[in-house]
Amino acid sequence: MKNRNINDLLDYLDRSPSPYHAVAESAVRLKKNGWQELSEQDSWDLQADTGYYVIRNGSSLLAFNTGKLMPSFTGFRIITAHTDSPAFRLKSGKLKESQGVYKTGIEVLGGPILSTWLDRDLSLAGRVVVKTEKGIESRLYRKDDASVMIPNPAIHLNRELNQGFEYNPQSQLSLLITASGGDKLQSVHQLIAKEVNLEEDAILDADIIAYDTQKASLTGWNKEYFSSGRIDNLATCHAALEAAVSVSGQDAVTLTALFDNEEIGSRTPHGADSAFLEHVMERIVLASGGIREDYLRSCPASFMISADGAHAVHPNFAKLHDEAYAPVLNGGPVLKVNANWNYSTTGETAAQFRLLCRGAGVNCQSYLNRSDLRGGKSLGPIAASRMGIPSVDVGNPMWSMHSIRETAGVSDHQDMISVLQCHLRQSGK
Ligand code: CO
Repeated sequence: MKNRNINDLLDYLDRSPSPYHAVAESAVRLKKNGWQELSEQDSWDLQADTGYYVIRNGSSLLAFNTGKLMPSFTGFRIITAHTDSPAFRLKSGKLKESQGVYKTGIEVLGGPILSTWLDRDLSLAGRVVVKTEKGIESRLYRKDDASVMIPNPAIHLNRELNQGFEYNPQSQLSLLITASGGDKLQSVHQLIAKEVNLEEDAILDADIIAYDTQKASLTGWNKEYFSSGRIDNLATCHAALEAAVSVSGQDAVTLTALFDNEEIGSRTPHGADSAFLEHVMERIVLASGGIREDYLRSCPASFMISADGAHAVHPNFAKLHDEAYAPVLNGGPVLKVNANWNYSTTGETAAQFRLLCRGAGVNCQSYLNRSDLRGGKSLGPIAASRMGIPSVDVGNPMWSMHSIRETAGVSDHQDMISVLQCHLRQSGK
């Protein structure tokens, strides 16, 4: 069982080089389990004990199981996670010839550890928007093989490199593309069009990021860990989906929200700081025969677990942690607490999560920043504040968060799935 989950996670990570792919892959898994897609533009006729999902922008997905369709009495059991990861996003794909190769400019999306993106076997993924007879259509695009690169300068020509080097994203992090043998190229879109058998000018626009083609893998002497790009936060998306599809017949409506754009602050029409979640929750209540008051009553009766990555203590950098709050890999899920509400955890919601861990037979660790460090944040406070839903921020411990290759613990992943299952199964308050 354990290995099945982990191999399945590695597969999920490999199939999800961009948020669009993560959502498409999540939808495939939900569909396989009999969940049905709903459109926000249609009227909803919901059945009890049935799974549904809704997609916005191709990059955010809300999945819910209706249970006994009594949200106002039981509240919702909610899990949130995010589909995006720090990356390099192609500007518009315009190419410039330089020293015998092409270059395309990038924007830094979110906060990656920039240096980890150099000297890797990179490729491109995202979506292209093409003109069809019916209008414009978005299509997933992914080039599987290593095809673009950002080489470092040689150390001999840049002796300062190991003293701490500041890369300039405008001039030093352009993607190099070696497209030989063809006509003069203006844009990456021409290359993509050719590859997917479209007319050269068929691609009107695109949302493309670079990704690392190295596959997710088990690591550690006894394969206790796994490493991959995008563990923050696709590992949690996977755990949330695994939990969601394994729970049925419960009283409460369960809801799994996988949001895009956490890495850039969530304020987009499909991010956690949009009305997506509240619209879907209210519509579930209305489709269950309730009125708006029932929806408003359901919010304080709900419980949300905002699950994201957590910082495992690093043996070479242990001083970056408060030693009393230094989670280790494979030590179990981590409660994240912050006085300034970078996390949504309160004493009460933390207590509730501890009970869930106890119920799942799983160890619970906790993380607070060193008091002289600012630390990170997550989407929990944003999503919880909009609707007044009691919420807790948690996550699995990992090393190298926001590196192009992160590392996390195998048993933590299984533990997170177990705790999330307990959370979704809880009926009533
Ligand atoms: Co994250």
